[in-house]
Amino acid sequence: MTAPTAPEDPFNAWFAALEARHRASLSFQEVRRSLQALSSVYVERRSKLVDGGALDGAGKRAAFALYYGARHFLLVREVVRALGATKPTLPRVADLGCGTGVAGVAWALEMAPRPEILSVDRSRWALSETRWTLAQLGLRGRATPGDVLDTKVAPGACGIVLAFSINELDDPVRDALLPRLLDNAKAGARVLILEPLAKKASPWWPAWAKAFKSAGGRDDEWKFRPQMPETLELLGKAAGLESRELTARTLYLAPAAKR
Ligand SMILES: C[S@@+](CC[C@H](N)C(=O)[O-])C[C@H]1O[C@@H](n2cnc3c(N)ncnc32)[C@H](O)[C@@H]1O
Repeated sequence: MTAPTAPEDPFNAWFAALEARHRASLSFQEVRRSLQALSSVYVERRSKLVDGGALDGAGKRAAFALYYGARHFLLVREVVRALGATKPTLPRVADLGCGTGVAGVAWALEMAPRPEILSVDRSRWALSETRWTLAQLGLRGRATPGDVLDTKVAPGACGIVLAFSINELDDPVRDALLPRLLDNAKAGARVLILEPLAKKASPWWPAWAKAFKSAGGRDDEWKFRPQMPETLELLGKAAGLESRELTARTLYLAPAAKR
């Protein structure tokens, strides 16, 4: 008798299709160079993020989708598994500052039946990429233009994820967002925030962590080494970036019974 095979990981087919699409008109070296330029915006020239400088041009978009998008997909999946944030399933997941849509889909794919996804971003390109991601993975959802702060999430059971988007907000917007998210959790939402481990990127973290923990939530740091496609590893390595390890700090707050 043959052993039952593990169901195919949807990430692999999604990544292969993503790579085929973005690499149709760009060489590996062009994507590598764009990834280096993009990383310098994230690390050294963060003011450019506010005017959308990170996502201008096909090369940077390909680098963002292929390197950061794919790694964030794998990272969010590991985090929601480790936090036990996948059970019981949720009817809806809101992904605020969705980029290419990976955080919402990574969380939704870990639940059965699958939640509907509401993805919000201020970048039209990111939203079109998110629509492609949803379709590719056969998930129900919509990608809507909007600002993180203006997005109303209906009360009740749902997931709200903000992956690497809060550090792009202006201080007043970020300050206004915190009580909103705490209220969402009181109204039944599981709220998950991911940011880089480097404290430089998020000086606001200690205050947020205190507020989340006072409300019964948790503050964690993570390191994972999941299996990943060879070309994803190669891209990171060629650009002089992290290639194998996935890291993040997270805040997580869920209604008491589901913590
Ligand atoms: C670093 S990317 C992360 C994308 C995605 N969440 C991920 O983990 O790959 C940050 C995203 O937040 C979006 N963003 C930044 N400020 C925003 C705002 N005020 N409202 C909506 N989206 C915003 C940017 O357009 C960008 O797509």
